[in-house]
Order: sequence, then structure tokens, then C-alpha cells
Amino acid sequence: MKSELAERDQAQVLVGRPSYLPFALPDIDGAELEAIRSALESGWITTGPKTREFEKRFAEIVGARYAVAVNSCTAAMHIALEAIGLQRGQEVITTPYTFAATAEVIRYFDAKPVFVDVDPVTLNMDAHLIEKAITPKTSAIIVVHMAGFPADLDAIRAVAERHGLPVIEDAAHAFPAKYKGRMIGSVSQITCFSFYATKTITTGEGGMICTDNESWAERFRIMSLHGISKDAYKRYTAEGSWFYEIIAPGFKYNMTDIAASMGLVQLTKADRMLRRRVEIAREYRRAFSGMPELQVPHDDPSVQHAWHLYMLRLNLERLRISRAEFIEELKARNIGVSVHFIPLHTHPYYTTKYGYVPSDFPVAYGEYLREVSLPIYSRMSDEDVADVIAAVTDIVRAGRV
Ligand SMILES: Cc1ncc(COP(=O)(O)O)c(C=O)c1O
Repeated sequence: MKSELAERDQAQVLVGRPSYLPFALPDIDGAELEAIRSALESGWITTGPKTREFEKRFAEIVGARYAVAVNSCTAAMHIALEAIGLQRGQEVITTPYTFAATAEVIRYFDAKPVFVDVDPVTLNMDAHLIEKAITPKTSAIIVVHMAGFPADLDAIRAVAERHGLPVIEDAAHAFPAKYKGRMIGSVSQITCFSFYATKTITTGEGGMICTDNESWAERFRIMSLHGISKDAYKRYTAEGSWFYEIIAPGFKYNMTDIAASMGLVQLTKADRMLRRRVEIAREYRRAFSGMPELQVPHDDPSVQHAWHLYMLRLNLERLRISRAEFIEELKARNIGVSVHFIPLHTHPYYTTKYGYVPSDFPVAYGEYLREVSLPIYSRMSDEDVADVIAAVTDIVRAGRV
């Protein structure tokens, strides 16, 4: 099998893509460069008027009363948990099928991430399993919208309300996304976004924390800048003064005006970039949904999927090649791919700390073993999309049982 595919690789390289297609690329052009230049030239390069404008615009778009810009989604989730008063020894319910950040922020407080398994269709936390995981120590629920497909927020909120728990959304993948007609960012008590380099809009590094709760918003602002009661921008402008007070040992999580300038331009492109990702997802579905060796990602008319990731799953019993070989074959055809996510409970830190074994969350573990993420970003040309489809189709044809 291997050599048959290796021989085909030769032919593919001759007729196929001449250059490597990266797994992800930011959609940046002269507009971002111009915005960054003007921020640099303004003389105000850290948190200031551009950051405030970015917050205001973002809040309007997602329909939140308050948005506070920070330097990552990780920072956003950290200060979210601080604001709700998470204490050492308490518990936060979340999913194991996610990136490091979602659970590490719980550990910052010496609190315990309590994982519940995911739904095999959506890869989002299974709302039916939450109630059983609640104990007197439970303080919050952190929901992840995997790949940008909104989790079942109505069901999660119903459980949370029954137990008086706040819901924090890790919406790192979910801008712009909608749940039953409502923008993600306007549904739960707190929503945290990421503007990391590979995300659906980017500021290089960056994040936003949204809420309708005024006192939390005030706390986010204070804790994102050293626990100081007035922000630096106000201190150094005509409206401010030299006086400030430290009211808590805060963090250094503020966004710069350089990043915010870039974010403002990215916001103007967000719809166009989403439309392109939707088109690519549609093309992939058209090409792959008829192949029994593959499972295409779930979509649903009741939501707007942000399509941050295209999470293909292999029906391995129908293939003679492993997931690792499938990935190698894609790489040999110059297609960049990735795997999302290695479930948190299988990582050494969590196995050592809590004694987990992979089968503790069998759906997360089983789905991870057959997942391959394909490139999906607005800078992909029709030819790039066709190359991915040709490569996947070729590998499946050669590798089917
Ligand atoms: C689900 C999820 N949550 C949180 C993060 C962290 O985002 P940031 O890099 O902005 O801190 C990521 C980043 O990849 C992520 O995938």
C-alpha cells in the first residue's frame, strides 16, 4: 500500500501542486499596513483611542453591552474566571476536546477542570452530561464552540440556571458565528474571543472579552491593566491626571493600539472572509460527502458556523491507511494539514495530576484518533481548494479497502 501510494506521489508531484499550501494564512493587505502605520505615526502605540474604537465596534457587531480588548483569549478567560470569583479548590466544568488554554486558566486558580465528554456529531460538550458532573464545588461552565460551530447554548444555559452557575464561552473559534439568530458574544454571561494569527480575524495576538454586566466589565478593565483603577490612556491625556490607585494585583493583558488598528481593518473584512470559508466548506462537502471513507463536518441551518477549522474525520475501518499515513500523503502532495485537538485528559500534565486514562472520555479520544483538519481560509484560491480536493480524493481512492 505504502509503495503504491509513494509511486503515485511521484506522479502527483509532477502533475500536482508545485508549491506548498500552508494550513492557515492571515488575510492581510495594504489596508492593515496603512492602519498600523497611522497608529505608529500617531505617537500613541499602546492601549489608547484605537483600542477603545475596536472595543466599541466589536461590541456593536456581536451585540454585547461591553467589550474589553486584551492580548489573548487565554488572558480573556483568565480574567473572566477572576471576575466571577473562582477560588482555589473549586471546580469548573469544561470539555477535554479543546486547546490547552481552556483548562489551564482554571489551573491558574488551583481550581479543578472537570471534563465532560463531547457529542460525537458536533465535537462540542455534550449538554446532557453536564448535570451529572455538577458538585457543590462547581463554580462555572466553560463552553467551547469547536471549529466555530456553536454549542447547544440553550441546553447548557438551562442546566446552568438550575444550579446558579455562570456560563463562560470560549469563542476562540467562533467569530462571526450565530446561535439561533443571535451573535456569539451576546448569548451567555461572558464570551471570550481570540485574534491569534490563525483565527478568523487576527491582530497577531489578541482577544476580546464581552459581557452585559457592568461591574464585570469594569473588573476586566482593571484586572487587564495591573489592577489599576484608571487606565494608562486616561492618565496621560488631558482628561486624566497623574493619580491612580492599585486596587488588586492585576495582570498585564492590555491590547496595543497597533494591534487594535489591525483589528479594526479585519472587522471590515470579517463578512467577506466568512463568506469565502463558507464557500470552501461547501466545496469540500460537495466533494467528500459521497465518500464512505470520510465524514464531513456537521452543519445546521439553525446556526451560523464560523468555519475556523474544517475538521474532516476518517472512517478508518474503510481505509487501509492510518490517519498518520493519510497526513503524510497530504504533505507529500504539498497540502498543509493539522489535527485538532489532542484531548486534554491524555496530556502528561492531566494524566499525572488527575490519573486520567484515554477511555475516561471515549468520544473525545475516539474522534481525535480519526480527525484531520484541512486548510480553510479566505486567501485560498479556487485552484487551492481544487488541489486539496484532488489530493484527498486521490489518497482515498488509493487507500480504500
Ligand atoms: C479553543 C481555544 N481556546 C482558546 C485558545 C487560546 O487563544 P489565544 O491564543 O488567543 O490565547 C485557542 C487557541 O488556539 C483555542 O483554540
